[in-house]
Amino acid sequence: MSRQNRILILDFGSQYTQLIARRVREQKVYSEIWPYNASLDAIKEFGPSGIILSGGPESVYAEGAPRVSPQLFELNVPVLGICYGLQLVVYTLGGEVAPAERSEYGFAMVYVEDTSDIFKGAGRIVRADVMRQIGGPDGFKQSRVLTRQFRAWMSHADEVKKLPPGFESIAHTENTDFAAIRNVQKRIWAVQFHPEVKHTDDGELIIRNFVFDICGCEPTWDLGEFLAEKEEEIKRKVQDGRAICALSGGVDSSVAAVLAHRAIGDQLICVFVDHGLLRYGERDVIEQFFINREGMRVEIVEAEGRFLEKLKGIVDPEKKRKIIGETFIRVFEEVASKYPDVRFLVQGTTYPDVIESVSVKGPAATIKSHHNVGGLPEDMKFELIEPLRELFKDEVREVGRLLGLPDEIVHKHPFPGPGLAVRILGEVTPERVELLRAADRIVDEEVKRAGIYRDIWQAFAVLLPVKSVGVMGDRRTYQHVVCIRAVESVDGMTADWVKIPYEVLQRISTRIVNEVKGINRVVYDITTKPPSTIEWE
Ligand code: XMP
Repeated sequence: MSRQNRILILDFGSQYTQLIARRVREQKVYSEIWPYNASLDAIKEFGPSGIILSGGPESVYAEGAPRVSPQLFELNVPVLGICYGLQLVVYTLGGEVAPAERSEYGFAMVYVEDTSDIFKGAGRIVRADVMRQIGGPDGFKQSRVLTRQFRAWMSHADEVKKLPPGFESIAHTENTDFAAIRNVQKRIWAVQFHPEVKHTDDGELIIRNFVFDICGCEPTWDLGEFLAEKEEEIKRKVQDGRAICALSGGVDSSVAAVLAHRAIGDQLICVFVDHGLLRYGERDVIEQFFINREGMRVEIVEAEGRFLEKLKGIVDPEKKRKIIGETFIRVFEEVASKYPDVRFLVQGTTYPDVIESVSVKGPAATIKSHHNVGGLPEDMKFELIEPLRELFKDEVREVGRLLGLPDEIVHKHPFPGPGLAVRILGEVTPERVELLRAADRIVDEEVKRAGIYRDIWQAFAVLLPVKSVGVMGDRRTYQHVVCIRAVESVDGMTADWVKIPYEVLQRISTRIVNEVKGINRVVYDITTKPPSTIEWE
């Protein structure tokens, strides 16, 4: 089996699987995530230098739990099992796993017993009091010893009771003797904690030890080279043909479009649909950057009237989304039909989209149908060009930076396809769009001014369908309520509300009620996702 300087991660459904792949790529080693049930032949064909088994929510001994064939461990490729991955190694190779007497969630101190390979350089040496068994069951003696330890992130309810033949423990915690195990001869290592999570002090070092020392990888994954290769690939594919691209101004479509433009210049036609539901200033960026600076060919379609007309009287969120989605496709098709010779469609699909669509949990478990709003149907008669298919969001941003895109685009918060319509509860009217856009602009400006924009996944305003009483000067008012939503998230699947400093919230609130006529109350959304969603509709 050829070794291709790449790591394969088999996914057993952990929320951290993507993090594992990112941590490996941070070491400049290419990695891919595959479902756990990928065939051995496909794995051999891929030729990984090492295989990492992810964590997962199941119990390995439960009926229907995701498992692998013992032959996976006979490929003579180093394996690192993480959490569920460790239990799977033990279970598959003849050890024993059972419910833990005490589950471990959160921080645990890991005591390292061997630093010759995976733990090389890990932990710090401290003096600790330990109880040593010196005689019968009650014969304990306390003694001071030197131990090597580090803090790690644990999350498991099962534990190893017995190791498979040939395995030894190389680290323990207070709750388990098997925090890390190995079988050097078979080149298998496994850890009960999560090295991919930043809370684990020496996590990065452990991944480096595995990837470089144990698997023998070289740090060859380079985004600059990737960029050059992709440009060549697009040139070869399109030749003297033409391609079209739906440019939304978001990070993914912007980076994909600029990259394709570098490759094929004016043979690329970008279509920017202004549905009238954009955030303040968004269209200006398209004009200033893509058209004026990059000299790209962008067709701006003014469709505000058409969208708002269709949305008249509609209050049901799903109906709104459907109308916007369908109208968007119609508009795009109309533009595309002006160029009958266009054969290619450039799309900003990224690696998380790809992983979700091949997820063992099935796409339905991860993607909400409405997230396709603002996207294009799969049956369009184009050949797809998806230059960012292999990249994570932070890598897309890095490629954007290498391509010279301004920070304003590279670090832009995600924005839903249906735009402000899903942040206007109730009917979408031109007046209400204006109100929300004005309030939202203030949120954006103040968050940027406070220097917290990049720490936040999304921060925006929502226009509520209620009015409330207020007092301005000596006059009673009865006006709209705006809610501020700001969340932190890794992928938008789960999210926590941001503890924005009070002074910033205060400035936002004061500015909105002073500057936006028609709003007299500002509230702050303090719910996580789940149970809420990020958007209000
Ligand atoms: P929710 O509201 O489901 O949103 O928690 C999760 C993330 O997805 C974005 N979002 C969309 N993106 N088209 C998109 O391209 C859509 O129709 C859509 N709806 C929600 C949302 O902004 C958040 O980042």
